[in-house]
Amino acid sequence: MNNTINRRAWFKSALAITGGLTLSSTFTNQLLAAPVSHAEGNFIPLLNEKLVRLGSNENPYGPSPLARKALAEATAEFNRYTFELVQEFKKVLADKEGVSPDHILVVNGSSETLCLTGMALALEGGAVLSAFPTFRSLMDYAEKLHARWDRVDVDDYHKHDLDALAAAVKPDTRLMFLCNPNNPTGTVIEGKKYLDFCQEMSKKTLVFSDEAYLEFLEPDEQQSAVELVRKGHNVMVSRTFSKVYGLAGLRLGYAIAQPDVIKKISKYQMGPVINQAGLAAAKASLNDVAFAKLTRSKNNEALNFFQQYLDKKGWFHGQSRTNCVLFPAPKDGKTILAETMKRGFQIRVWDFQGKEWCRVSIGTLNEMKAFVKAFDEVVG
Ligand SMILES: Cc1ncc(COP(=O)(O)O)c(C=O)c1O
Repeated sequence: MNNTINRRAWFKSALAITGGLTLSSTFTNQLLAAPVSHAEGNFIPLLNEKLVRLGSNENPYGPSPLARKALAEATAEFNRYTFELVQEFKKVLADKEGVSPDHILVVNGSSETLCLTGMALALEGGAVLSAFPTFRSLMDYAEKLHARWDRVDVDDYHKHDLDALAAAVKPDTRLMFLCNPNNPTGTVIEGKKYLDFCQEMSKKTLVFSDEAYLEFLEPDEQQSAVELVRKGHNVMVSRTFSKVYGLAGLRLGYAIAQPDVIKKISKYQMGPVINQAGLAAAKASLNDVAFAKLTRSKNNEALNFFQQYLDKKGWFHGQSRTNCVLFPAPKDGKTILAETMKRGFQIRVWDFQGKEWCRVSIGTLNEMKAFVKAFDEVVG
């Protein structure tokens, strides 16, 4: 897509073809990874597969060249189950993380880790605790099995309020979920402060560190809580190949935790077989350092452009270090969703503190340039 005009012309012709076909609300939920606001719950998007996807924090540059090559080479084995391959990959990951293989669980996308952990913990009763807003899947699963979700609002800068989180731990808190960098705010709890906090909290409850966006930080800033797992603390780390590695559609992730925790959650996994394509691509991606670097630098360029746009408008946003930004919706959320979609862009609207917020994922620089033009039209 070169410019907004072309996109609009395309959109008009697409509308003519589909006759304004709308999606079902079930499909809407899938498309939007479950609504996170009243605006999304009431919004039925138009069928438009050419949308610029600024709604799911995907990597617009992936998969990496090495992953593509590995996939092509692996196809001949796609008729086989992956019993041995999973064990091999577990060993690769264990070596990378400095733990033993029984500290690792390989999963079909880190959503599986969130689901398994939410279920396993909720079955013991009690509560899960997290900042709000954050990536809510684990807590949603826990709530479905009747656990309580205790939330602590992020602070005025959209950062985790660590004192308030510490104070919110109760005798029945089974797990504290921390997303660092956080989705949807993009904010980070920096290095040593993060590790000190996780270590302290792990004396009271299991600390879950969702590090889906860790690789968006520069390598010398990537402070993973895996260091605490290595030292034997009650900490669990979740990683994914969906973001910087650009493999969202291949569903590959892993968890790192003490072996008893891995055993507890893996009881609920569908089986020991992980998808073969994902394994091949993920293994190759780990070696594609150049691609991760390219993603980081292109994302930073587009992120800076977009955050500067928000600054010029005088709209608040947390300091994002990942591939999404959250800012107050300048108009009502449903209108924003409909009008941005009409102009060819998919974004998200969140509810927080009685207000509506736009979460925009960072696409390519050209996509972001086209988006701000469209957004200006939408919000007047
Ligand atoms: C913080 C966070 N964790 C986990 C996930 C799930 O990712 P996946 O299941 O693709 O690994 C996402 C997806 O957006 C996310 O933002």
